Amino acid sequence: MTRTAPRMVITGASRGIGRAIALEFARHGARIVICARRQAPLEEVTQEIQRAGGEAVPVVSDVSTDHGARLLAIAVERNFEGELDVLVNNAGHFRAVPMLETSLESDFHALLAANLTAVVLPTLRLLPSLLRSPRPHVLNILSIAALRGFPWNTGYGSAKWGARGFTEVLRAEFGDRVRVTGIYPGAVDTDAWVGAPFPHDRKKMLRPEQVAAAVAQAWEAKSAPESVVLETPPGAVGG
Ligand SMILES: NC(=O)c1ccc[n+]([C@@H]2O[C@H](COP(=O)([O-])OP(=O)(O)OC[C@H]3O[C@@H](n4cnc5c(N)ncnc54)[C@H](OP(=O)(O)O)[C@@H]3O)[C@@H](O)[C@H]2O)c1
Repeated sequence: MTRTAPRMVITGASRGIGRAIALEFARHGARIVICARRQAPLEEVTQEIQRAGGEAVPVVSDVSTDHGARLLAIAVERNFEGELDVLVNNAGHFRAVPMLETSLESDFHALLAANLTAVVLPTLRLLPSLLRSPRPHVLNILSIAALRGFPWNTGYGSAKWGARGFTEVLRAEFGDRVRVTGIYPGAVDTDAWVGAPFPHDRKKMLRPEQVAAAVAQAWEAKSAPESVVLETPPGAVGG
């Protein structure tokens, strides 16, 4: 990483892919507002970021709510004087449910909130701060489930396609001032897979650090890529 250490917000940074992205940027001195809904794991990652050479501001926040998104904007105001260089919309939640068993509230609406609203709201609330940066960049952690259809994915797949759509709308409206990148990982070895109701082998999956490296590369690139696809390695998912 050669550019000046950025001022960042990473949502869902207390474990998995978000944590790996935070540590990747921390090694290069980034100042990062990190958030998650639970405090204890967030505090642990705060320590890890500081040990790695970055600065962390932990904010307990549910970014699927407007209140949660506004808490991030307040943290940026207080810690970065209202200027933000990088927003990584990473928070999300995976749950596979057969289509005919999908309930309206606890599956469909919940997965839309967790994976679509949670991308839109932080972006809306942080755009004014991003527009004050000399080189703003929004990177949305989407999924290959936003490129293709997978079974048992009514809620998750619809939400990720929606988040991909929002990513395109953001670029159409602000692409002349804000760099916008969609990251599309296949299966990644994180706790999101605990209890997944189909055969999978976490040892064969992508590592969270591979996604983090792709995010850092996209941020460093002179011309930001519109999309980065990381395919699932053979044998990781399915019987
Ligand atoms: N793992 C995969 O195979 C895979 C593949 C493609 C794309 N992705 C996407 O990558 C992203 C990260 O996935 P992951 O596998 O790293 O998940 P994970 O291990 O379950 O971690 C999710 C993180 O997000 C936080 N979070 C969840 N909902 C939140 C909310 N509403 N507000 C604030 N924080 C929230 C969690 O902390 P709390 O629970 O404390 O809030 C946690 O820090 C997700 O968007 C996921 O859809 C994952």
